[in-house]
Amino acid sequence: MNTGIGGTPATGEWQIACRVEDLADGACAQFSLSDTPGFVLLHGDLACAYINRCPHLGIELNWMPNRFKEADGHFIQCATHGALFTPDRGDCIAGPCQGDALTALETRQQDGYIWVRFTPD
Ligand code: FES
Repeated sequence: MNTGIGGTPATGEWQIACRVEDLADGACAQFSLSDTPGFVLLHGDLACAYINRCPHLGIELNWMPNRFKEADGHFIQCATHGALFTPDRGDCIAGPCQGDALTALETRQQDGYIWVRFTPD
């Protein structure tokens, strides 16, 4: 295991999250970063990845595999209490954790894959 304190992934190691084509048509993809669950989506051409942990209760956001968006597909939504997060920054704009944010991961695209790594502020 390569996990930091409190379930935060170790820093600095790039890891493949998914294929770029897995994110077609607004899809999201789950992955595990050093045993920490994460997910990634495309916002335009920008790959945005987050640790799969709602800032409200610290639990995973989704109930269904790879399902992280609300019905209109614009925002990330927590399945438990419905908090909404912006796809490009992970800012909570509505719900019990409004003003808080998801933990973002650094991303890059290379050779048809999305790579992610954890780099704390
Ligand atoms: S656990 Fe996500 S909004 Fe409550």
